[in-house]
Amino acid sequence: MVTNVQFLVFESPAAACREVAGEIAALIRSRDLIGRRAVLGLATGSTPIPLYRELIRLHREEGLSFRNVTTFNLDEYLGLERNHPESYWSFMHRNLFDHVDIDPACVNLPSGTVSQEEILRHCRDYEDAIREAGGIDYQILGIGRTGHIGFNEPGTPMDARTQKIHLDPITRSDAAPAFGGIDKVPTEAITMGCGTILEARRIALLAWGSKKASIVRQAIQGPITDEVSASFLQTHADATFFLDNDAASKICD
Ligand code: GLP
Repeated sequence: MVTNVQFLVFESPAAACREVAGEIAALIRSRDLIGRRAVLGLATGSTPIPLYRELIRLHREEGLSFRNVTTFNLDEYLGLERNHPESYWSFMHRNLFDHVDIDPACVNLPSGTVSQEEILRHCRDYEDAIREAGGIDYQILGIGRTGHIGFNEPGTPMDARTQKIHLDPITRSDAAPAFGGIDKVPTEAITMGCGTILEARRIALLAWGSKKASIVRQAIQGPITDEVSASFLQTHADATFFLDNDAASKICD
């Protein structure tokens, strides 16, 4: 299999995020010029927060408008109401959507409250909505300690579509402090599948800090395996890892 994955190392997360935000702004502006929308795939977690901060700055200070932007988030916890402070719906509004001029009708996240009987239909509808929007132009990703992108935990196949998944114990324990205890962390989520993610035309995976160094190395230089779903990015024609020095510290020459 061809390895196309590139990585860029920056002196700080802020510097990396300026670069990624610049790419996103260029995409949005080039689409504006031809009267078309830009479709962004968005991620949650602490990692993309400085990116969202930079996009908000570009909106406020440099006139970047989001009125021609459609977004699809990667995932959502099952069992959380939208207004739960740890729902990804809340996270995205708090950290980005409430601060830019995006049309609320063009914001898409999987539902955290869909009934078990409706999940299959809901996931199919999510895939259809992405397709009808023209596919994702630019996908932002973080990486979990299990190597997951979205919530594609170890064992999720490369061609998986949007689906319900069970969260890995490591992922739940990482989320426990925010929820105030592991018992409060949902056990299931809906996530875009790896197959869905890999159809994005450009992918930027962000990772900061030494805690991510080992899994970043595995994703970039290890085998392409469903044990580390981020390793699937090695098969993508235009995926880049944006890293700070610490996250890149275990990559071998
Ligand atoms: C969760 C999210 C992922 C995210 C990961 C890492 O599992 N579903 O999209 O990449 O957390 O989070 P953090 O950026 O806080 O390290």
